[in-house]
Amino acid sequence: MKNIYSNIFPFNKKTLNKSAASLKKGNVVGLPTETVYGLAGNAYSKKAVKKIYNLKKRPKKNPLIVHYLDFENAKNDVIFNNYFFKLYKKFCPGPITFVLKKKRTSRIQSAVTANLDTVAIRFPKHNMTRSILKKINFPLAMPSANLSSGISPISAFDVCDEFKKKLKIIINGGISKIGIESTVISLVGKPRILRLGIIEGRKISKFFKISLFKSESRIRSPGLLKRHYSPGIPIKLNQKKADKDCAFITFGKKYKDKTNHFNLSKKSDLKEAASNLYKTLRKIKNKGFKKINVVKIPNQGAGLAINDRLKRASY
Ligand code: TXA
Ligand code: MG
Repeated sequence: MKNIYSNIFPFNKKTLNKSAASLKKGNVVGLPTETVYGLAGNAYSKKAVKKIYNLKKRPKKNPLIVHYLDFENAKNDVIFNNYFFKLYKKFCPGPITFVLKKKRTSRIQSAVTANLDTVAIRFPKHNMTRSILKKINFPLAMPSANLSSGISPISAFDVCDEFKKKLKIIINGGISKIGIESTVISLVGKPRILRLGIIEGRKISKFFKISLFKSESRIRSPGLLKRHYSPGIPIKLNQKKADKDCAFITFGKKYKDKTNHFNLSKKSDLKEAASNLYKTLRKIKNKGFKKINVVKIPNQGAGLAINDRLKRASY
């Protein structure tokens, strides 16, 4: 039998060298991060960026996040400000993405930013991806490694299920600990959160005043598109029970174990629930359920990001 996962590699020196060499040639590699897995390519290479959009079937007007080892490496591409330094000091490397003004002299491909004059930058924490960034002298454009509008992958196997052998290398970095995408905050003009994540507005507002972005027309941020993160089957939110032949996503200890029940966190821990969300949606889809009901998830802390994703997945 053919090994369908033969393009998944354990992390070692050989994989590191092979991945770096492949990225230098303008190829695309599947990489682990602490949030979700990414589809990485040289942000300065037209060829690599084109491959990312094509593989994901991503609309050209949806910009990509550019990943760096640390802020020193980003200084030729973006204009920093005080908001940035405050949050960088506190949260980086980690699950937060900053939208900043792009430098005119930046070598970032215009396709990466969908021709905007801003760039989204992130400093991932995952050790393997950091080792790769140390080996190359360019930043990585890296969207989540899923087909556009689908569920983000949290394991190397998820990435392989999305792209099969279209990817030559996927590095196995285990399950992504956080399990949902980074918080995206615009620091151009007044700070605004564009995408909710595990680093909540409440934590950021200790440093300065922020607002949550509402209008979807003024800035292009596909994470804010109505339909996203979708398992491709109908989802009903705020339900008390499962309908017939339907998967039921629960939360908290009062729900019994049943074959169609999927508990995001028995101990009612919202961070744990966030880390189980995409895993659960994939599992339900793979088991062949045709519908999903979800109980009401508390709308606080990590619950805000969970509800944001569920709402878009159910659209
Ligand atoms: O956790 C993450 O951020 C993962 C890992 C792989 O790093 N990446 C990720 O990328 O979620 P993606 O492409 O799935 O989502 C990128 C988000 C989109 O909502 C996009 O609109 C927004 O970042 N974005 C990128 N550049 C932007 C810009 N210049 N202005 C506003 N939003 C931007
Ligand atoms: Mg994505």
